Amino acid sequence: MHIQWYPGHMTKAKRQMQEDIKLIDLVIELVDARIPLSSRNPDIDELGKNKYRLILLNKADLADPGKNKLWRAYFKDQGFFVVEIDARKRTGMKLIQDTIMEACKEKIERDLKRGIKNRPVRAMVVGIPNVGKSTFINTFAGKACTKTGNKPGVTKGKQWIRLNKSVELLDTPGILWPRFDDDAVGTRLAFIGSINDDLVNTEELAMELIEFLMSEYPGALSGRYHIEEGGTPAEMLMAVAEARHFLKSGGEVDYSRSAALVVDEFRSGKLGRITLEVP
Ligand code: G4P
Repeated sequence: MHIQWYPGHMTKAKRQMQEDIKLIDLVIELVDARIPLSSRNPDIDELGKNKYRLILLNKADLADPGKNKLWRAYFKDQGFFVVEIDARKRTGMKLIQDTIMEACKEKIERDLKRGIKNRPVRAMVVGIPNVGKSTFINTFAGKACTKTGNKPGVTKGKQWIRLNKSVELLDTPGILWPRFDDDAVGTRLAFIGSINDDLVNTEELAMELIEFLMSEYPGALSGRYHIEEGGTPAEMLMAVAEARHFLKSGGEVDYSRSAALVVDEFRSGKLGRITLEVP
């Protein structure tokens, strides 16, 4: 599926990030656990070189647990620190805190050797739109944190969230764009809802999703809609519409409604925990 992109503010956002990244020690990069590669920005490795790196496999609650494990191993092999999380919950936060300290161990030890104590690690959160950056910052920072910055003696302009004595977070996340030169990536982003649905043909999208599900997650559709799995994606769409009695006023089967339903229920996890790409 070819998607027409409008990467309007891309250059500006990238320039901003080049500036912000100079101020930090650690890049906390959020990716979507259902599409860990397709939800990465192609420039981030270049932008984040010479920085400590932590990848958060976010929305892990919606992704296939076995594949989360594979992706963790994959990124670890590439030299990243990795934690899988559900950014809406506070449960994973202790692990993240510990992993940040582990990732920045070298710097902390270097500081100590120089007699610098309690200089917090500075981090920023980056990721493509909708990956969960704001949710993560809210959950991770919680209520207990205090904002610093814009006070006399503190670097002007930047707001830092002081999480505790050892970590400070830049309060605005870096927004970067996904790849837009690869139709397969575009389709996966559309599946998870990261592309404005107005730019996408829902029926086409649903049929591609159904094709994927029948091949990689057999039983997901039949389990949810109590229909036989088989035939073409269009026939499956018809079966879903019939099972749910989606009819137009003339009695004709309403495909577009069943297409929207399948896509929605995939996105909300009602079809199960599904990962769309493997390492
Ligand atoms: P962004 O700043 O990177 O653009 O993303 P944001 O935090 O706004 O999150 C985008 C959507 O993803 C939100 O849902 C948010 O609740 C959801 N989300 C974030 N992290 C997770 C996660 O780990 N698991 C799940 N299941 N969902 C997550 P929304 O529908 O746009 O808003 P709302 O209905 O939750 O308010």
